[in-house]
Amino acid sequence: MQPTVPAARGEVSAALIEALTSDGHLPVVLADMDPYGEDLHLALHVCYELHYRGFAGVSDDWEWDPGLLSVRRDLERQFLEALRRDVGGGTDVAGEFDELLVLPADGEGLSGYLAQEAERWQLEEYFALRSIYHLKEADPHVWVIPRLQGQPKAALVAVEYDEFGGGRAENLHAKLYADLLDGAGLSSEYLHYQDQAPAAMLAVVNLMSMFGLHRSLRGALVGHFAAAEISTAPSAKNIVTALQRFDADERCVRFYTEHIEADAVHEQVMRHDVVDALLKDEPDLAADVVLGIQATELVEARFGEHVLQAWRAGESALLPT
Ligand SMILES: [Fe+2]
Ligand SMILES: [Fe+2]
Repeated sequence: MQPTVPAARGEVSAALIEALTSDGHLPVVLADMDPYGEDLHLALHVCYELHYRGFAGVSDDWEWDPGLLSVRRDLERQFLEALRRDVGGGTDVAGEFDELLVLPADGEGLSGYLAQEAERWQLEEYFALRSIYHLKEADPHVWVIPRLQGQPKAALVAVEYDEFGGGRAENLHAKLYADLLDGAGLSSEYLHYQDQAPAAMLAVVNLMSMFGLHRSLRGALVGHFAAAEISTAPSAKNIVTALQRFDADERCVRFYTEHIEADAVHEQVMRHDVVDALLKDEPDLAADVVLGIQATELVEARFGEHVLQAWRAGESALLPT
């Protein structure tokens, strides 16, 4: 079953959704949108979902509609410009990876909070928010495969093979996450929580889709993928600690224990067999790899801050429906 279109969050996303559902005019993208705001990220999310599962009642042909692609480009430009402006930059890939190993990847330490202090409802909100990505885990990274050759291609595909369950549907990581949601008593329906996911969450997924869909950003996609693999195991350990506090369903624990084990290997493969090998072939991509790592940290930090700020104020981190 295809997801339904989400509710608009501003002028641009409203016009876009109207065009997709009732053949209205595509929006003119304003040049000065908030690059991390609700309207831009909801609109970008809608554009990208056309490449994944589409939406019920929206023609599949919109995916390659030139007018829609031009809207998407204008949204992407603003997001990408903000990312380039807001990260430190540079070409020291090894230094960036070393830093990832010591710093919490999620802002003030969202997973640390989950391990130590979170109440059950907060853990459930975290699962609901992350479902926007984990129910299509590893899909955005597939787009980079034809843009790589030789060793980096072979090694990245080996990691993706694990993400996609090693040939078994029940082991797809997206399926393990659906099982987790079921185990937590939440909905495992694809994009069920999209209307409750704030821009800070949508941006995490939009970042991957943007890097995946642009050959010119292949270095950034690979940097992002490596950064994600490096930072998953420590946060997964924290979430297992949180789940143990609540004596949680085994299906919830499994998703994270799988990742503690698998990502210890994936981290090494991504760092050495993908990133090092790619930079040997294309040394000029170092700045883009750094962009991918730093942008991942930035959007994850913004997400962590959003969630913790809401919770510390005694509020839900989900948007009201
Ligand atoms: Fe995974
Ligand atoms: Fe992984």
